[in-house]
Amino acid sequence: MMNKKTVKDIDLKGKRVFVRCDFNVPMDENQNITDNTRIVAALPTIKYLLEQNCKIILASHLGRPKGEFKPEFSLKPVAKELSKLLDREVIMAKDVVGEETIQKALNLKEREIMLLENVRFHKEETENDPEFAKKLASMAEVFVNDAFGTAHRAHSSTTGIADYLPAVSGFLIEKELKFLGNAVNNPERPFVAILGGAKVSDKIGVIDSLLEKVDTLMIGGGMAYTFFKAQGYEVGNSICEMDKLDLAKSAMEKAKQKGVKLLLPVDTKVGKEYKEDTESKIVKCTEIPSDWEGFDIGTETIKIFTEELKTAKTVVWNGPLGLFEFPQFAIGTNAIAKALAELDATTIIGGGDSAAAVKKAGLEDKMTHISTGGGASLEFLEGKKLPGIECLLDK
Ligand code: 3PG
Repeated sequence: MMNKKTVKDIDLKGKRVFVRCDFNVPMDENQNITDNTRIVAALPTIKYLLEQNCKIILASHLGRPKGEFKPEFSLKPVAKELSKLLDREVIMAKDVVGEETIQKALNLKEREIMLLENVRFHKEETENDPEFAKKLASMAEVFVNDAFGTAHRAHSSTTGIADYLPAVSGFLIEKELKFLGNAVNNPERPFVAILGGAKVSDKIGVIDSLLEKVDTLMIGGGMAYTFFKAQGYEVGNSICEMDKLDLAKSAMEKAKQKGVKLLLPVDTKVGKEYKEDTESKIVKCTEIPSDWEGFDIGTETIKIFTEELKTAKTVVWNGPLGLFEFPQFAIGTNAIAKALAELDATTIIGGGDSAAAVKKAGLEDKMTHISTGGGASLEFLEGKKLPGIECLLDK
């Protein structure tokens, strides 16, 4: 995956270029963008294409409108934000592959930029329909994929289009592959992975793959309770996947075989109910009371995890360690973010919730790399091939 051609490897001068970005950004109920990170991350490629006098057609999805036009999923706010960031006009197309839109694309002048409407307004997009991909391709001479966050989806605008146009990556995909790839394949040691999140089932692939590579694996978040249960402890009302106990057991067994230090929480902050201001207390993991629910790692665990991190040279973190949306259960996640920020090490944050937690703590500048991909970075760490990258030309 690391050996793919980028925009620098082909002649783009004056060409009409179709650029797939991941502008799937969070918005409030009034369609105001609440985090523009993914738009900012696309700028280096767009600026380079402007320097090459390209005619630029941008495409993205936003949310999951399920193949229908829905105004709340329009990319109009993204066009506005882009225009502000680039300090130049970004033409907002009225649809994706309407005749007028295709004509506009074909008539773009050098250095003009047009953003298509949400590609997921057509169900053909997620079906990776070849006719739809062909229509998208008909607007351009080259396909540039810079949508790292969507690289794990084999859709018409991420993969199918590469059947009809020469396909290369943009700078964002190149950067993501470099940081995530180096961390995983060529880490400076000790190499520590921290995995959190609610479910073992979401993370079992990544646990399995990282156990082949890391020196230490720390597990927190909701999935830790499945590990406790697998060891025979009671977990009260905590989230627990009873059908995944064997997976947890085999992960513990594999860690032993591979000589990986597996650190599970030793204490946990439990709450009476799933409510921001619920009564809470810290208990040992072996003593979770029957009618309480675990929502965070405890003080002793924070101490053990942060102490272990001090000697790390590479850290990969994916998934919050507690219910960080509620301040009283964000303490573990924030403490780990702070510990990482202070390290003299390569620190890589998988996207999604852990990226959100780092940003919320105001520590994003202190990390080596925060991935713009949630699902995509997880699949990359699992060692899976990402179709949006596989389809690009080899160097
Ligand atoms: C993401 O936010 O993870 C990407 O934009 C992919 O979105 P999806 O899960 O709806 O395909």
